[in-house]
Amino acid sequence: MAGLAIITGASTGIGFELAHIAAEKGYDIIVAADEPLINNAADDFRRHGTQVTAIEVDLSTFEGNDKLLEAVGGRPVDLLLANAGRGLGRGFLDQDVAEWRKVIDTNVTGTTYLLQKVGNQMKAAGRGKILITGSIAGLMPGSFQAVYNGTKAYLDSFSYAMREEMRDTGVTVTVLMPGATETEFFARGDMMDTKVGQQEKDDAAKVAQDGWDAMEAGSGHVVSGWQNKLQAAMSHILPDTVLGKLYRNMSEPGTAEKA
Ligand SMILES: NC(=O)c1ccc[n+]([C@@H]2O[C@H](COP(=O)([O-])OP(=O)(O)OC[C@H]3O[C@@H](n4cnc5c(N)ncnc54)[C@H](OP(=O)(O)O)[C@@H]3O)[C@@H](O)[C@H]2O)c1
Repeated sequence: MAGLAIITGASTGIGFELAHIAAEKGYDIIVAADEPLINNAADDFRRHGTQVTAIEVDLSTFEGNDKLLEAVGGRPVDLLLANAGRGLGRGFLDQDVAEWRKVIDTNVTGTTYLLQKVGNQMKAAGRGKILITGSIAGLMPGSFQAVYNGTKAYLDSFSYAMREEMRDTGVTVTVLMPGATETEFFARGDMMDTKVGQQEKDDAAKVAQDGWDAMEAGSGHVVSGWQNKLQAAMSHILPDTVLGKLYRNMSEPGTAEKA
């Protein structure tokens, strides 16, 4: 038996594909999301024949993360795929406080809490692999997605710091940095009237596979797709003022019509 994997945000999109890969590889999986759809997804994962536990919890809260950890029940965790996250479009001043707070609480606070809990358990066991879903968005100032990009900058950076701290523990930390990917993300983040919301995007299964392969190899990061690799490289060269302006062309409400 391969072991136990936790995958957060597994009801749709990249997390759904990651959970399929994990179960297909023989891992028992614990999958979590905030809505009942996670139970339908779990039925889908069960066809691979491993044990599947679905937890419906709000991972923006410590309580939600604790419930997820309770489901682990002291079993050693071999893989943690910390993927749950949400986006939010529109100008920052127009965003609802509860909505931007949920983005920070889910992407940053909840994820950090889970990483510490499971990281300590893995360190004690002397083994484990962690995959964090960051984003190339974390490399650029996200005009009209300002809070979201800030959370991804945090995760991209955090992942490398945690990786270094865990260097001699037998635990690896990898950050998956997708570009725009075809999932529920843009509709849920109110970004369908933007160029990036309407443009052709990467396939979630391919992105998940790239992340999985990088995690298995113990790499520091992977940027999925050559166009995103190019964007990531440009983000290290262009000044932030220029990047912020370019971002606007993709993410400002109304840019869909100009596409
Ligand atoms: N799509 C992109 O272009 C893109 C690019 C770069 C990075 N990413 C990152 O990829 C990750 C997965 O996103 P996706 O594109 O696959 O979008 P998605 O289809 O919307 O999936 C997001 C998943 O996270 C879960 N989730 C969100 N908030 C949660 C909360 N508070 N508690 C529990 N579960 C929660 C969702 O479940 P519920 O529906 O139950 O809330 C869902 O399962 C995110 O971290 C996102 O930032 C996406």
